Amino acid sequence: MADFDKSRKIAFLPGTSGIGRALAKNLAGAGFKILIGGVKLGEAKAAVKDIQKAVGSACPFIEARDLAGAASESKVIFFALPGSQDERKEVLQQLQSELKGKTIIDVTTASYLKDESKWGQTSTTHMNAEALAAPAKWVRCWNTVFVGLLENSPPPDNPHNIIVCGDDQDAVLQAKQLIDCQQGFKALYGGGLKYAKALDLLGPGWIVELDHNAANSMGSNLAGWRFGI
Ligand SMILES: NC(=O)c1ccc[n+]([C@@H]2O[C@H](COP(=O)([O-])OP(=O)(O)OC[C@H]3O[C@@H](n4cnc5c(N)ncnc54)[C@H](OP(=O)(O)O)[C@@H]3O)[C@@H](O)[C@H]2O)c1
Repeated sequence: MADFDKSRKIAFLPGTSGIGRALAKNLAGAGFKILIGGVKLGEAKAAVKDIQKAVGSACPFIEARDLAGAASESKVIFFALPGSQDERKEVLQQLQSELKGKTIIDVTTASYLKDESKWGQTSTTHMNAEALAAPAKWVRCWNTVFVGLLENSPPPDNPHNIIVCGDDQDAVLQAKQLIDCQQGFKALYGGGLKYAKALDLLGPGWIVELDHNAANSMGSNLAGWRFGI
């Protein structure tokens, strides 16, 4: 496959904070065209300003849109919505026509704590794909790192591996290129989408949740999970 076409815009749903924004900033710095999606347009515009300030002229194009606007203008979309699976389902259903047929790079982490019977039976990405209920090229990656690692890139001579799972080979190659162009990260193919459930086990998102749940239910964090950020 040819190199990622840099004239194409990459959308972030959302790109207003957290991992979506950190990835947007890195890719803006690497010269890609970026659309920052946000429910609150003011927050998306503020993120655009911050990223512009950080990367200067390296980024040829970066603008703010609402989620539907960002999704409709791009063929490659990072999906980084926090919250519960029900909240993600609602947003995905609202964006069904904008996301249909697109490459969706899924960095979200579902919670299994409310329904532990799902452990090992499915994956965040399968749940998101089912929620979208329209064909799309789903790729799973980036959920295995904390956002702090993106903000303080690992040294280039000792890169951090990012495992990529997906069934569509073009979409997988695009996701890999968008990893390899970031200093300190190296993509590794982890197999088809059916292997994405293994990545859920490596995802810090649910570890953070254990942290919070333990703290809330016991009055203090007695579970020993100390990975929160
Ligand atoms: N943070 C990490 O280190 C990390 C690493 C790997 C994967 N992940 C996964 O990536 C996903 C995002 O996590 P995050 O920590 O990046 O999130 P975050 O920083 O908590 O939130 C990102 C943005 O999402 C917006 N948002 C919240 N609810 C929304 C909704 N219903 N519709 C549209 N936008 C909404 C927030 O806006 P408001 O503030 O206005 O609500 C915020 O600007 C999660 O599934 C997480 O498990 C996170």
